[in-house]
Amino acid sequence: SGVEQLGNMIAEASSIVPFTGAGISTECGIPDFRSPGGLWTRNRPIPFDEFVASQDARDESWRRRFAMEPTFAAAKPGRGHRALASLYRAGKVPGIITQNIDNLHQASGFKATDVIELHGNTTYARCIGCSKDYELSWVKRQFDQSGSAPDCADCGDPVKTATISFGQAMPEDAMLRATELTKTCDLFLAIGSSLVVWPAAGFPMMAKNSGARLVIINKEPTDQDDIADLVIRHDIGDTLGPFVGN
Ligand code: OAD
Ligand code: ZN
Repeated sequence: SGVEQLGNMIAEASSIVPFTGAGISTECGIPDFRSPGGLWTRNRPIPFDEFVASQDARDESWRRRFAMEPTFAAAKPGRGHRALASLYRAGKVPGIITQNIDNLHQASGFKATDVIELHGNTTYARCIGCSKDYELSWVKRQFDQSGSAPDCADCGDPVKTATISFGQAMPEDAMLRATELTKTCDLFLAIGSSLVVWPAAGFPMMAKNSGARLVIINKEPTDQDDIADLVIRHDIGDTLGPFVGN
């Protein structure tokens, strides 16, 4: 079966790089983006230029984020997160590349410096001008006091979740480190991503072109299934559960 083949590939690999999308966190209660009921089926994304230009857009963006806070605050690592953390502790995973913003790889035991976040992190906020970091509780307090999304106390520019919106520049350091990991691994695991958002979606092919084996684990087909060495079209928790170790 797929799980058995995956087990063999993991056993044979010396450097495994997981690349994760929102599908690994759905069992933790966090909706993905493009499945039925996903975030982008309920709300249209607010592009970066709109966030910058419009106080209304910033208010709406923060209202959405505050509404999600109970979900993010309650979420615990799932079987997929725990399986990858087990492989990491066993020394088989030098680092993990994620499109996720939920901090659950860190919560599962990855050192923060070994989690390459391509799309940032929603568990804190950052000034888009001077990059000063803020706690969400600070933003909430300011919002509640003034009735609208606050600006940076230092430079006056808007404060946003520390995530990457459409139209916003990719984090340069994360892109460089993700490229390095991708080109030097011998097994690349694309897990729970529709692989439609670029440049992130370019990493599986980069791994393949650099000689790694490519496994795609996703319950829906993706455009890159035909270049994969193994496609497992099943639930991630069920597929990776057997690899949860100590
Ligand atoms: P998507 O919502 O596009 O894709 C998630 C995939 O996971 C879907 O194909 C689901 O079928 C699959 N899936 C969900 N739950 C699963 C489960 N339990 N087992 C197996 N498969 C499951 O999410 P991403 O690919 O992560 O970026 O989205 C990429 C980017 O688009 C996000 O990082 C975000 C979004 O816009 C930005 O906001 C910049
Ligand atoms: Zn600032």
